[in-house]
Amino acid sequence: MIPERFIEELKYRSDIEQVISSYVPLKRTGRNLKGLCPFHSEKTPSFTVYPENQSFYCFGCGAGGDVVTFIRKIENLEYVEALRFLAQRAGMTLPEEARDDGTALLRTKILEINRESARFFFDQLAHGPDRRAIAYLRGRGLSDKTIKRFGLGYAPNTFDSLKNHLKGKGYSFEEMAAAAVVGKGKNGGYYDMFRDRVMFPIIDLRGSVIGFGGRVLEGDGPKYLNSPDTLVFKKTRNLFAMNIAKNTKEGSLILAEGYMDVISIHQAGFDNAVASLGTSLTAEQARLISQYVNQVIIAYDADGAGQKATRRAISLFEETGVKIRVLSIPDAKDPDEYIKKFGPARFKLLLEGSAGAVDFEIAKLRQKFDLETADGKVAFLKEFCSLMAGINSPVERDVYIIRTAQELSVSKEAVADQVAALRRRRAGAAEKKARRDIRPYSESAAGQPRDLERSRNIRYALAEDKLITTLLKHPDFYDAIAAKIRPEQFVTQKNRELFEALWQRLQNRQDIGMMSLSALLEPEQMARVSYLLASAEGVAYTMQEAEDCMKTILEYQSVKTPDQVAGMSNEEWLEYAKSLAANKK
Ligand code: GTP
Ligand code: MN
Repeated sequence: MIPERFIEELKYRSDIEQVISSYVPLKRTGRNLKGLCPFHSEKTPSFTVYPENQSFYCFGCGAGGDVVTFIRKIENLEYVEALRFLAQRAGMTLPEEARDDGTALLRTKILEINRESARFFFDQLAHGPDRRAIAYLRGRGLSDKTIKRFGLGYAPNTFDSLKNHLKGKGYSFEEMAAAAVVGKGKNGGYYDMFRDRVMFPIIDLRGSVIGFGGRVLEGDGPKYLNSPDTLVFKKTRNLFAMNIAKNTKEGSLILAEGYMDVISIHQAGFDNAVASLGTSLTAEQARLISQYVNQVIIAYDADGAGQKATRRAISLFEETGVKIRVLSIPDAKDPDEYIKKFGPARFKLLLEGSAGAVDFEIAKLRQKFDLETADGKVAFLKEFCSLMAGINSPVERDVYIIRTAQELSVSKEAVADQVAALRRRRAGAAEKKARRDIRPYSESAAGQPRDLERSRNIRYALAEDKLITTLLKHPDFYDAIAAKIRPEQFVTQKNRELFEALWQRLQNRQDIGMMSLSALLEPEQMARVSYLLASAEGVAYTMQEAEDCMKTILEYQSVKTPDQVAGMSNEEWLEYAKSLAANKK
């Protein structure tokens, strides 16, 4: 655990207004500041910073919290890493105690084990008795230099060679299993996870090996086996080869599907290729990319799955504002095969000619319809107009409309009119939607899964919200509140957990400022805290109201389930009905 004293100090040196201003231009409105939310795309600011209680909240997407939550989200960091980041900014050093906690130690061990495993796999590839893997990689055109650069390796076809190797280095089986290079069998025995596979180490931005991808050489089993998430590895947050590509001078990143594509592209002379890790691209990965470059070139496989993934990626990147280009790969199934067939020079030409996202969409539409027939043209134009209506730049719209109208020999004005009409209609709908969307977090803020438990118990949930807010604003009410209600009596789980956290700290006479809370709460809960504080702006919370809230919450205890009601005797039922009626008043 990091000492409270340190967090206190860090808090004073990390003013939320200053920290956030270095990411988001903020404008003062009264006591607060507003800006465009960095966590979702918007045109009118709903992102608010509250210097008074050092929190932020976005009424558009429900993101919120304190300065630590902000850094965790925007820099993609775990809690302790975010503290380290802020400490560096403030010229402080994170105390050693930070690493005393068990998981921090285990993390270090896992990183060591991963590094040692990568070394072992590399050694097996280069000098081991089984020469098939190295022959395979050379057969696929990889030079020794490339193999070294990516630290590729070979996991031997046995159940215990890595396990024994690591044992010899002093690691325990539990530690190896935590790194997921070793699995635990049903009978309690341990075995090597990767067997007879070509190994691709996954390296994070700091140069640590955090996981592996393993490709089968021959035989059965899945083509690729990837490390599961561990203490040091979150698939959805990392990209293969980002450790190399982050230093590129290109100003763009090439996003490919597979490990082999990335490696081939690098070998062909481009240092800016990355891949998501055996899963489809996530919003976090798209954000990460957009933090390093302002252009991304999507170079997915030429097959149907690749095209579908391209669309998905386009919509994720659109959220980040990064410029998107799409590479279509003729006469090859993926970039790796293309480079092998036609060479790096042709690939460079392909990259330079890569179409913008809109060209990609138009080309897809063209394939969908038979433009030789009148019906086909009409159907094509309908979808084309819809596509155009989604483009905000009038100049860009004009370019596509003029070109396409010419190609189809139809009137440019007619097409433009249609697009304008569509845009008017959508603007109306969008405004309505925006009004609907800017609703309190509690109902269903964008990006938050709907909380069924909450909607079913909304009356109690609202009372709980208010009680929690009261406590946040008046920690000195704690004793009076604690005398009447306990966390277990809360109806909805999320509020119960939050209340419990506040409760525990107050019980030990600790403060419940934002910085102290973010050590305990997940970003999602922190967002709730800031939502509650944001909506409490300028409202007085009295003990009298707190009493009413508690009364409401406690009523839940007396509400019986239908089964319980069915099992009541007549007298019991009458009593129960009376008590309900009394509560209503
Ligand atoms: P090669 O066949 O060696 O050229 O592989 P590739 O890199 O071109 O891979 P492919 O296009 O088949 O798949 C793209 C990516 O999806 C791979 O790099 C893996 O990350 C992932 N992938 C492919 N097959 C599997 C699988 O069977 N299981 C899992 N979990 N991921 C896979
Ligand atoms: Mn391939």
